[in-house]
Amino acid sequence: MADTLNDAQRARLDEYVSTLYVEEDEALRWIQDEAARQQFPAISVRPFEGRLLQFLVSLSGARQVVEIGTLAGYSGVWLARALPNDGKLYTLEKSSKHAALARQSFQRAGVGERVELLEGSAQDSLAKLSKRGPFDLVFIDADKGSYPAYLEWAAGNLRAGGLVAAHNAFRSGQVLDPQGDDDRIMDEFNRALAGHPHFDGMILAIGDGMAVGVKRA
Ligand SMILES: C[S@@+](CC[C@H](N)C(=O)[O-])C[C@H]1O[C@@H](n2cnc3c(N)ncnc32)[C@H](O)[C@@H]1O
Repeated sequence: MADTLNDAQRARLDEYVSTLYVEEDEALRWIQDEAARQQFPAISVRPFEGRLLQFLVSLSGARQVVEIGTLAGYSGVWLARALPNDGKLYTLEKSSKHAALARQSFQRAGVGERVELLEGSAQDSLAKLSKRGPFDLVFIDADKGSYPAYLEWAAGNLRAGGLVAAHNAFRSGQVLDPQGDDDRIMDEFNRALAGHPHFDGMILAIGDGMAVGVKRA
């Protein structure tokens, strides 16, 4: 049987996987509704990508997670809910408007105690966070131009066996035929992870592509 799926089949299979594994509760729906009401850009992970992040936390037994790019806190809630009670999510956001809604989101979702939001540029926050490492998982979902630098930060601050995950590895297919700087940088990032001496990498072809690397011992 051919294993090539057309768009309609892919969409139906996304729906199928979501039916099996994804349940959005009132808090998650509230975050998306409130973000839309406040005219945030619709650039959060999709529900089944949130579920994938949760799965990566469980898979790696993560206790200390860093998220670069909070927006309204949607992916952060998925991540934080997978952590043990004494786990911690550090989530980094430069926009004070986004940070304000995200703080409400974390409280509403019941994970406020487990989340520390660092407001300001990720570059500054990462420099400060280094002394609290090593970390178990780093999720990259912010300015594409800094993805290569975020990967190097992850290489230096993850424990052996820890995971780096990066959203939008496919750039809606544009990595195949880069049109703009962000497409080119994403392609560069994917190549850097694939050949990285400190990571065993792969791209999970879910949603817009999740690049994942396991830090080598
Ligand atoms: C794609 S959104 C994050 C979506 C979020 N992870 C989710 O799925 O719900 C990217 C966020 O990164 C923030 N951002 C972009 N560049 C940044 C930087 N240099 N430092 C900190 N935050 C940054 C943006 O303000 C935006 O809120």
